Amino acid sequence: MHDILQKEIALYEKRTPKSAEAHKKAQKRIPLGVASNYRAYDPYPIFVAEGHGSKIKDIDGNEYIDHNLCFGTLMAGHGHPAVVKAVKLMADSGTTFGMPHGMELELAEEICARYPVEMVRFGNSGTEATMHACRIARAATGRDKILRFEGAYHGLHDTALVSVKPKLEDAGDIHAPNSVPGGLGVIKSVLDNVTVATFNDLGSVENRFKQFPGQIAAIILEPILMNVGLCMPQPGFLEGLRALSTKHGALLIFDEVKTGAKLGWGGASEYFGVKPDMITLAKSIGGGVPLAAFGASREVMDLIVQHKVFHGGTYNTNRFAMAAGIAVFREVLTRENYAHVGKLGTKLTEGYRAIVKKNGVQAYVASAGVNGALMFYPQEIRNYRDWLKIDVDIWRQFWFGMVNRGVLAMPYWWDEQWTISVQHTEADIDKHLAVFEEVAPGLAKAQQERGAQFVGAAGH
Ligand SMILES: Cc1ncc(COP(=O)(O)O)c(C=O)c1O
Repeated sequence: MHDILQKEIALYEKRTPKSAEAHKKAQKRIPLGVASNYRAYDPYPIFVAEGHGSKIKDIDGNEYIDHNLCFGTLMAGHGHPAVVKAVKLMADSGTTFGMPHGMELELAEEICARYPVEMVRFGNSGTEATMHACRIARAATGRDKILRFEGAYHGLHDTALVSVKPKLEDAGDIHAPNSVPGGLGVIKSVLDNVTVATFNDLGSVENRFKQFPGQIAAIILEPILMNVGLCMPQPGFLEGLRALSTKHGALLIFDEVKTGAKLGWGGASEYFGVKPDMITLAKSIGGGVPLAAFGASREVMDLIVQHKVFHGGTYNTNRFAMAAGIAVFREVLTRENYAHVGKLGTKLTEGYRAIVKKNGVQAYVASAGVNGALMFYPQEIRNYRDWLKIDVDIWRQFWFGMVNRGVLAMPYWWDEQWTISVQHTEADIDKHLAVFEEVAPGLAKAQQERGAQFVGAAGH
């Protein structure tokens, strides 16, 4: 570990002793001391006391401008007044009945007005949404195989947990990647039914259709690969996938768990002008309350109507989630708010670019909608294997440097990105950039000292 990083971690430990203590205690009863593996990192995670608007406070009393926002779940920001009001009303009048109620249709109408789907079903997490989408695609086509992209994240069910972060030595040919389980316990036969291609490589997709004629039920993808920082689809890639899906009778599933709300008013299909057959939504559509949805044409969703595909769930459409979702679509994800965050996003992105250039940091800035990332590479990455080349210690120096100065620039992990909420202000962005001005010279210095040596150890 190089000097500046060591100093930043020592400062982090000095500022957050109560988090260290809380994490130590939590590990006795909770594996890794956290409720989701993504929340654990060295030396220990920050424990949060409260969040308001664009900021959170930790249990040591330090305040941070929050661009983690629960891994991009809070485009509404913390405690958005419209969400709080809606949820409070429900707390007083019954939260969950296991029976239908009027808000389900209201929210379904909001979703069908924005995204290219005719019918929707609801759930509680992105994992559920992509699991049901894959099952419906298999049912609709009578085929078993799902084609997915190496490095993408679609949640935790077995089909999704293939080739998420494979080690380079296991990954195989870049044009025909191996199906690598994302941990023990993933059923081995699932690997035969999940075939993997490379993002931005249409040839690798075409080859899979040739290899498995009439066997691929669907292509599932994040229209922007957001599990490797932020990796944009190259011109023609999404259009090419649309054409190949249609040609081979497979469904095209856009996993819009992140992009659905955060890319713009109509999600990725509007942003890129490409129409998928199914979409999945979660994270920011719930304003902080667990809410997910999947939708498709009437014809595809008719499989549920005909009782051919089973979908259920005790907590589906609980009224906290429905009320929060309606408030989010009507009062948070408005055209005016997209204009506001768009302005802040441009300011943050351009500010980062100017500071990177001024200091000679070897990095570039990628952004789309309210998301962005400082990417420590000499040129734009196109896929997961490019992303593996990041110098992790330089990224850690960036992250700890920002945190120690009151800016949670993004979630911990170099595969993530920042989110800007509707409650962030120009002053928040000014502070963010002022802090990056302080941190950037040390990054350039450390990069020079380490030489242009990219260690290639990014998988985690
Ligand atoms: C694109 C995408 N799909 C699915 C998921 C899974 O969502 P959840 O964590 O709500 O199960 C995530 C979570 O990060 C995601 O980013």
